[in-house]
Amino acid sequence: MPGASVEFPQACVFDAYGTLFDYASAAARCGAVLGPRREQLNNLWREKQLQYTWLRTLQGKHADFWRVTRDALDFALETLELPAVSLCEKLMQAYLALDAFPEVPTVLEQLKAKGIKTAILSNGSREMLHAAVSHARIGRLLDAVLSVEEVGVYKPHPRVYQLAVDRLGVQPRAISYQSSNAWDAWAASAFGMRVVWCNRYAQCRERLPGLPDHEIASLSDLPFLAGDA
Ligand code: LAC
Repeated sequence: MPGASVEFPQACVFDAYGTLFDYASAAARCGAVLGPRREQLNNLWREKQLQYTWLRTLQGKHADFWRVTRDALDFALETLELPAVSLCEKLMQAYLALDAFPEVPTVLEQLKAKGIKTAILSNGSREMLHAAVSHARIGRLLDAVLSVEEVGVYKPHPRVYQLAVDRLGVQPRAISYQSSNAWDAWAASAFGMRVVWCNRYAQCRERLPGLPDHEIASLSDLPFLAGDA
């Protein structure tokens, strides 16, 4: 990526789902029932969940991420002709206890040790984020957990990225924003943040305004942690 600056940010803000927390771990918990449909369910559920956030934002009909996640799951289960009655509740509960990606606690510890503020900025509702953070036991490593519910619109609306600026009291270019969702990484860059695209899913570059400053495959490769154990 061009203009790669490895100067220390004042704050590191992370997307939640797909970046800190592995949403695929929900379907994995029901792997025995889902069988060979597991990956399809995971992908369709995620795709539909994101679509619903964008569509509801365009319609001005906001509903929180718990509702959107459930609606997307209902759609995916019906499409794949999977038994909603036995699976829906289990998958939704599993979404509250997603696995954090293995490097997450260490990376957050390293950032704290450098005096860098850390935060989550996510579409997730406060309750969902609280559950995921507690399950991963990373609450003490985060200065703020920010939900889009505070602004009532979803990413990539600029009001969402502005929420991090306002709540952390740090200028956009002094924030490093990490996301594994390419569209989210591009949008944070277009907003004016410094961006590290954690391209866990080997996605292609977006053709949208913005351009991440760095591309990495795992959060342990954060450029300003280079040289840390
Ligand atoms: C989030 C979704 C976009 O956590 O992953 O905001």
